[in-house]
Amino acid sequence: MRCWQLGQSLCVRAPAKLNLFLEIHGKRPDGFHELETLMVRVGIYDTLRFKQEESEASSLRIVSVGERNNPANSADHTVPTDESNLILRAVRAIQEYAGVNRQTRVTVKKEIPVASGMAGGSSDAAATLIGLNRFWQLGLSRDQLCEIGATLGSDVNFFLAGSNAAVCKGRGEIIEPLAVPADLSFVIVRPRSGLSTAEVFKHCRPSDAVRSIGPLVDAMQNGQSGAIAANLFNALQAPAESLNSEIQLLTARLGQLPTLGHLMTGSGTACFGLCPNRRTAQRLAARLHSEGWGRVFTT
Ligand code: C5P
Repeated sequence: MRCWQLGQSLCVRAPAKLNLFLEIHGKRPDGFHELETLMVRVGIYDTLRFKQEESEASSLRIVSVGERNNPANSADHTVPTDESNLILRAVRAIQEYAGVNRQTRVTVKKEIPVASGMAGGSSDAAATLIGLNRFWQLGLSRDQLCEIGATLGSDVNFFLAGSNAAVCKGRGEIIEPLAVPADLSFVIVRPRSGLSTAEVFKHCRPSDAVRSIGPLVDAMQNGQSGAIAANLFNALQAPAESLNSEIQLLTARLGQLPTLGHLMTGSGTACFGLCPNRRTAQRLAARLHSEGWGRVFTT
């Protein structure tokens, strides 16, 4: 993650992710699901700024949430700023792990849409661990940060690993980095409403015939966009569609457009189209935006 000094503050840029593949292998005794997923980082970012806090508790401020007046940012899923926020949980976790008694004031410029399957909260938590390790000069290793990250959320370690793409297993916290072709172009739409990850997992069933991630990994390694598109898969899409009709409508619309392939990311509700090039992605984004589908991004 990119970190830079700004006066007395440290800033960290936290990227979003897309899942190009997600298969469920079973339910575990701890209530989580055993997964195999392929994630790629994408260029939509939250920006976190850490300052020294002189009072006795760390604090959090959200300065903006995407485009104002857009229904996709409306109050169905607002970001909490209390102790339940993953950023403050990450602050507490690294304080306890490293045995430090310093406090920080965190300001977040939030661009990644919430409740969208793009892991904004997990990426913010990873940025907090990386940022405070540096800001407080704690000297923790990547493995130590991953040990803390795994206690915070299933997607946090993907962002700590630092690779642009990875196959993630277990709950999602076991990371196998993967080379990614440089020129993948996406149009991404986050419809007006979001979904809770826990709710979607509650409605999923482990697959009877488990799909192999192999063909997608091969396509990624060979940089073949067509083969990547042909192997996009998300086992959470059917349960998410049963909970949110906007996903079905959006998927049908994406299917009418000249993408190479399309899919819902993570537990939704955002969906993406893999495009042959950046120009097509931008053209489709303008069209989807004018049709009022929600927040639209290209990356
Ligand atoms: O780990 P994270 O906090 O992102 O997960 C949110 C919720 O999603 C969990 O509480 C759990 O209900 C569900 N989940 C799951 N299996 C996973 C990851 C998440 O059941 N592998």
